[in-house]
Amino acid sequence: MMNYYRPTRAEISLDALASNLAAFRNAIPAGTRLMASVKANAYGHGAVEISKEAVRCGIDYLGVAFLDEAVCLRQAGITAPILVLGYVAADTVGLARELDITITLFRQDVLEAAAVLPPSGKRLKVHLKIDTGMGRLGLMPHESWQSFLEQAMTAPGIEVEGVYTHFASADEADKTYTALQHERFSQVIGYIEERGWDIPIKHAGNSATGIELPEWTGGMLRLGIGMYGLYPSDEVNQQRILLEPVMTLKTEIVMVKQVPPGWGISYGTVYVADAEERIGTLPIGYADGYSRMLTGKAEVLLRGRRVPVRGRICMDQCMISLDNAAGADQLPVQEGEEIVLYGRQGDEQIPVEEIAALLGTVNYEITCMLAARVARVYTRGGQNLSVSNCSLM
Ligand SMILES: Cc1ncc(COP(=O)(O)O)c(C=O)c1O
Repeated sequence: MMNYYRPTRAEISLDALASNLAAFRNAIPAGTRLMASVKANAYGHGAVEISKEAVRCGIDYLGVAFLDEAVCLRQAGITAPILVLGYVAADTVGLARELDITITLFRQDVLEAAAVLPPSGKRLKVHLKIDTGMGRLGLMPHESWQSFLEQAMTAPGIEVEGVYTHFASADEADKTYTALQHERFSQVIGYIEERGWDIPIKHAGNSATGIELPEWTGGMLRLGIGMYGLYPSDEVNQQRILLEPVMTLKTEIVMVKQVPPGWGISYGTVYVADAEERIGTLPIGYADGYSRMLTGKAEVLLRGRRVPVRGRICMDQCMISLDNAAGADQLPVQEGEEIVLYGRQGDEQIPVEEIAALLGTVNYEITCMLAARVARVYTRGGQNLSVSNCSLM
């Protein structure tokens, strides 16, 4: 749906996205390719629109987690190179080849399936994955990776376009482990060069690497959280690259009421007003990704000031106190007034990291958990450009 009828929406600033991409582009060595990681619906920001904008900004590759995500992008008309960063099943490599989707290769059965694909005008593009210490996917450098590489390099239907690894802790202040991973990856690259194999893209970096260790990203920076304007951790040097959050989660007050002392608010009446209190009801709840675990903890912004959430967060709604916002010199708060759940309003802001801390998680998870039913409104130059709304997903 290209419109929205409930006032709850995530505003996605394409200006901020473009500025973050440019900031990384300027921070990495000239000639380094830039991949926009748009997995998990572009970290909740909307994969199709973010991919289009990232391509418009000149990124070289898109990264997704699994084949389904890549197929959706192709179906949306996106023709840029796409690398599937996760596992692709052996019986789907033909589809990947057909749609010009590059896969990550690290499993023997997938290699064999790719090698025996019926000939077509196309070769299956692959990036070999080396596990240098993330312990997740990839060939282990102390196992028989050389023979795997040999098979991949010599299979006529396979084009080995890349080889890569993923750092486990580049976002930590102590870079000892990252240095070890870098060293292991360099040895693999050394072996490839010794054999005279031409693999054009050798890559190792994520956002943290782009910020702190640009010289270790290799031929392509795989940029995720940073392009959305969020830092991978509070241990990275936030002065090196200045980022602007892309998403602001907003809604409006749909009901204002004055409750008397002793009035319970929401399920279980875990909050009971101890004096007269003005309460506002918001049309956003845990089914939108505004977690029930924020009950009793979260604040939202109203008129550029913080006000607390009152009572349990429901599936589709939650309540806030209006008393702090309506100072004596101000008009009473009205239905229809704007609320920011995270992001900036006036001089005040609620960073995504604050919500993450309240929930004991990382900023990545907060934007990823924003439900499909929250309309994404894309803005440029302060104007609404387009809307993506999947309310039944
Ligand atoms: C293999 C791989 N590369 C790059 C990224 C991007 O990481 P970040 O969002 O920290 O930039 C991810 C995300 O987790 C990933 O899994």
